[in-house]
Amino acid sequence: MKVLVVGAGARENAICDSLKDDVDLYTYISKKNPGISKISKYTIGDEGDLDKVADFAKENNIEIAVIGPESPLGKGIVDKLEEVGVKCVGPCQSAARIETDKSFMRNLFEKYNIPGSLTYKVFDNTKDLNEFLDSYDKQVVVKPVGLTGGKGVKIVGDHLKNNEEAKEYASEVIDNVMGGFAQVIIEERVIGEEYTIQAFCDGEHLAPMPAAQDHPHAFEGDQGAITGGMGSYSDKGGLLPFLSQSDYDESVEIMKKVIKAIAKEAKPYKGILYGQFMLSNEGPRLIEFNARFGDPEAMNVLPLMDTKMIDVCKAIVDGTLDKVEFKDLASVCKYIVPDGYPNTKYAGESIEVDEDKINELGAKVFYASVSEENGEIKLSGSRALGIVAQGENISEAEKIAEEACKYVKGNVYHRRDVGTDALVEKRVNHMNEIRNN
Ligand code: GLY
Repeated sequence: MKVLVVGAGARENAICDSLKDDVDLYTYISKKNPGISKISKYTIGDEGDLDKVADFAKENNIEIAVIGPESPLGKGIVDKLEEVGVKCVGPCQSAARIETDKSFMRNLFEKYNIPGSLTYKVFDNTKDLNEFLDSYDKQVVVKPVGLTGGKGVKIVGDHLKNNEEAKEYASEVIDNVMGGFAQVIIEERVIGEEYTIQAFCDGEHLAPMPAAQDHPHAFEGDQGAITGGMGSYSDKGGLLPFLSQSDYDESVEIMKKVIKAIAKEAKPYKGILYGQFMLSNEGPRLIEFNARFGDPEAMNVLPLMDTKMIDVCKAIVDGTLDKVEFKDLASVCKYIVPDGYPNTKYAGESIEVDEDKINELGAKVFYASVSEENGEIKLSGSRALGIVAQGENISEAEKIAEEACKYVKGNVYHRRDVGTDALVEKRVNHMNEIRNN
């Protein structure tokens, strides 16, 4: 079967890896990702040029396309591919609004009485915004309504000092039409531990994956800028050390209700639904949805799949999705990034990656924002590659991943603390304190 994967990052490298043994694999990538290019028939092009991607799919008789990143989903790549007869693992444009329009997402919770939402308000003018913030005495989170590549969200108590600074930033969001909407969404700030649950969806049924926890801060000890994610872990049993079975089940129930609501408001949701939750002292609260796999979280869950990815993709497009099986192991992913990231001066420099040594340790490499030029791996300004290891527990997987990171050489760094006993214990203690409050 001819399958096309669209997207050139580590998430897409992991998707390709999960398909490569069972399909005739084609990829449409914006740059020559060394991991993707060696396992697929690749074409380099603009993933957002929908006509070109559709022409490519048609010319090559692609039967199923798996869409990695959010941007082409937001532009309607699935609608375009379906027009030319290609079935897709990815939601159509109207269903992808669950990620691309945060106001649509929050309104869905309200209209369909779905639990787990937050107090929120959407503003399109500074007068109403300021009046609201002057009378609101809790800390808030300011979010552009549309896509901003993970860089638009600012939190009072973290990036912003107080609600006065929130007013200034929220006005900027409206004035600069950040994320493509002259609107801003203000949400209450919820305290707790964040976690991710990803699920396969066929429009009606949902098959959840093991939970994972990402680490957005650039530096160890959760310091520094918020990034796309510096690493993540998942645990045996599909839960997390601070997340109980009932917290997990409650989160999945929220996702099921959302899928039903999307089918009523837009079109049936086919693809991957990524739920980012906060475990608060009142239980799971939905922070946001993405219409795709998480990056890095895809690297945790995809290598754990026992059910073949191609069978899951077929079931998604046919509407026959059932349970998806995963190995009962823990996993740790550590992202290697250029020194100085997110403001690096090392873009364009070469790095050395000893994949053989990494594989000998039992770990895997998934390439992200690097390109291969004349056999050399060159950094761009963003995350370079993910190293993933599995183990009987998080501690074991962490030690393998950490050892494997030594075989990447150049002007790069990674968070050594992701998945360590000390950091996992800190998360558990934090959650216990919150529960006892
Ligand atoms: N891990 C964050 C994201 O995928 O958006």
